[in-house]
Amino acid sequence: MSKILITGATGTNGKALAEVLTNRRVAVKLASRNPLPTNEYSEYVPFDFADVSTFEAAVADVDRVFLLGPPLQFGIEALLTPFIDFLKEKGINRVVYFSAFASEKMGDNFEFHLNLEKKLAADGFAYTILRPSFFAQNFKNYEFENITQRNIIFMPAGLGKAAFVDVYDIAEVAAKALTEDGHEHKTYELTGPELLTYEDIAAYLTEILDKKITYPNPTPEVFRQVLVDSGAPEFVANYLISVYGVIAKKEAEVIADGVELVLGRKATNVKTVLKRDFKG
Ligand SMILES: NC(=O)c1ccc[n+]([C@@H]2O[C@H](COP(=O)([O-])OP(=O)(O)OC[C@H]3O[C@@H](n4cnc5c(N)ncnc54)[C@H](OP(=O)(O)O)[C@@H]3O)[C@@H](O)[C@H]2O)c1
Repeated sequence: MSKILITGATGTNGKALAEVLTNRRVAVKLASRNPLPTNEYSEYVPFDFADVSTFEAAVADVDRVFLLGPPLQFGIEALLTPFIDFLKEKGINRVVYFSAFASEKMGDNFEFHLNLEKKLAADGFAYTILRPSFFAQNFKNYEFENITQRNIIFMPAGLGKAAFVDVYDIAEVAAKALTEDGHEHKTYELTGPELLTYEDIAAYLTEILDKKITYPNPTPEVFRQVLVDSGAPEFVANYLISVYGVIAKKEAEVIADGVELVLGRKATNVKTVLKRDFKG
């Protein structure tokens, strides 16, 4: 029986999708450069977008692909294009591409998601595009130490709002797109159900952790300096300033209907995710 290839399988979204699909007894292949645990419905396949010699084994018995490029790097277009061309050559036509909400507002270096969306359409794929907003899991993934040890959230998000989305909602949408008809040639904008500032998130975390968590609202300059002083490459600081600048400029203040449209239920609120991530 044909399987679904999950790229980015060791990452936040790949793992969530693998969990959702294998719980439904759907056979998946988990593709990444690093091995990971499998179960009776999943198998691991070594895979590197930058190494064409890994492509053939990755797509054996596969007829659908969840395509996710890594974060915190530019050049994603060049990294993913050889694999997309390979899929076309093989006639593997059904691709769910993991894009991003409002990426057109992040500046010139962030055109890669839109360019890849266009490529999939121009190359004749039966694509589904997922455009998720900022993940509710970012607080755990990127700020766990800041929050639990330093009692702060530290991002250059200003006082703008975002509708943080639960990666398990995204995974459920992806699972439906990959296993049901009717999602071809569709683009889904996926957000959470409420618009919140970083101050609002700090207030939620204060309640959940029962200790004061603050949001110092760093300027981009202060943010860059703190990251560079702590040893992070300046590139990472600049990348995050561009991404979170979308919130600061109040350009992420949209609640989209993608989750409700596909799942027929309301999107999960951020407080539920924060409780899950910080209270266990
Ligand atoms: N964070 C947000 O709020 C947000 C919002 C919207 C969209 N996005 C988009 O979400 C995507 C990131 O998703 P995520 O957070 O789930 O990622 P993640 O947790 O950082 O995981 C990245 C995955 O990519 C794999 N990977 C990295 N380099 C690879 C390569 N050369 N070949 C094959 N696999 C490679 C990694 O596996 P190995 O290292 O094991 O190979 C890992 O499984 C990005 O495209 C970003 O633009 C993020």
